[in-house]
Amino acid sequence: MTTALDQDAIVRYEPRGAARDLFKTRDAEVFMAGPAGTGKSLACLFRMHLTALHNPDARFLIFRKTAVSLGSTTLVTWEKKVAADAIARGIVKWFGGSAREAPGYRYTNGAKIDVAGMDKPEKIMSAEYDLVFGDEATELTLTDWESVGTRLRNGKLSWQQQIAACNPAHPTHWIKQRCDQGVARMLISRHVDNPAYVRVDGSLTDVGSAYFAKLDALTGVRKLRLRDGIWAAAEGLIYDGFDEAVHLVDPFKIPASWTRWITVDFGFTNPMVMQWWAEDGDGRLFLYRELYHTRRLVEDTAKQARELMVWPSGQWREPTPRGVICDHDAEDRATLEKHLQLRTTAANKAVSPGLQAVQSRLKSAGDGRPRLFIVRGALVERDSDLDAAKKPACTEEEITGYVWAVKPGNKAGLKEEPVKENDHGMDGMRYMVAERDLGGRPRVRWL
Ligand SMILES: Nc1ncnc2c1ncn2[C@@H]1O[C@H](COP(=O)(O)OP(=O)(O)O)[C@@H](O)[C@H]1O
Ligand SMILES: [Mg+2]
Repeated sequence: MTTALDQDAIVRYEPRGAARDLFKTRDAEVFMAGPAGTGKSLACLFRMHLTALHNPDARFLIFRKTAVSLGSTTLVTWEKKVAADAIARGIVKWFGGSAREAPGYRYTNGAKIDVAGMDKPEKIMSAEYDLVFGDEATELTLTDWESVGTRLRNGKLSWQQQIAACNPAHPTHWIKQRCDQGVARMLISRHVDNPAYVRVDGSLTDVGSAYFAKLDALTGVRKLRLRDGIWAAAEGLIYDGFDEAVHLVDPFKIPASWTRWITVDFGFTNPMVMQWWAEDGDGRLFLYRELYHTRRLVEDTAKQARELMVWPSGQWREPTPRGVICDHDAEDRATLEKHLQLRTTAANKAVSPGLQAVQSRLKSAGDGRPRLFIVRGALVERDSDLDAAKKPACTEEEITGYVWAVKPGNKAGLKEEPVKENDHGMDGMRYMVAERDLGGRPRVRWL
């Protein structure tokens, strides 16, 4: 569709399939669901941009689970593919936010688009909107979704709508259930809907071929969901006791009295992962910060880690970790110690006992709470290369694809060892739990 407005904004976009349906629907809640790269985000963003251009003073919201993930993905598509022309012509301007208002985009006609992460929802919860768009919606909780829904009462549009884009998750995800129950409408987006990848005759463009090569290289449940678009359950999950509703917690102020730990899994082509854990007085562990990045030198990650913990004056911002528990590579450990200016200890890497110890921490203890948690938004920055490769980009994203390998010839399907991929945060988590729960290992101090 090409729209020419008074202000000369020209928008070129050809929606196909589910994207075309999105422009016609008036349902109060609509989820664009489908495999990766079908044009879901683009369709939702165009829907919003065109509505903003045509409706003076209307208010909009683009949101995602965390502010950092929004900036590195959705808003890049927005600025490059959707609003580029309008931004270049001065019809849309970035507004950095104020004490009361969320940051976002301001249109010359008075329309406004706020942007926010649900990790910092205060400003949007006091605002009112006409149309809101949640990207990567499977990351959201039902509570997030419902609370944003209560803000749809600006009344500048004759219809109010809550739209979202998502890849399929597990079959019992609240989004799937909500759509199955008829509370929300699901539009099924397909690769043939994306003219950047698939031509009208069904053949692939060059960009499309390169993109499908990435999807074909995926394995297991990620392949079923991201390539084939199926709401599939992972088979043979190792941490099947992990429940987002229980083990993921919102950020909170961690008391200074809690013990801090760091775990490290080295990597370069694979991500290097550094996890920060806080341990409360009852021995519960909370993963509260994480670096997870490919193609970065140990030295650079160590420097970044130090800046996160220590002010330039040399004063600590937070309690000094009691231990830095490391994967065993001697050279990497030496580099890490030098730039982190902390001693490290070698992790207890015994796989089977470590896995069992983590599994047992995920179960709820006598007081009804488990003994291991991940704080939402712990990831400091997303690695865009991992996003582009559709690989997990943090520990939390590894858990739901971490599965048992079944060896050929093992007819009983006996659980032996984990599939060794996308397991970098899984290793760090296991080292942490082994340190606290297994003990008894030779305490080799590395100098
Ligand atoms: N209708 C379209 N016309 C042109 N390019 C498109 C169209 N739909 C999708 N694309 C391009 O395909 C790529 C993937 O689209 P995106 O919306 O990010 O997919 P998804 O959100 O489904 O993973 C982006 O580069 C996007 O600009
Ligand atoms: Mg998307």
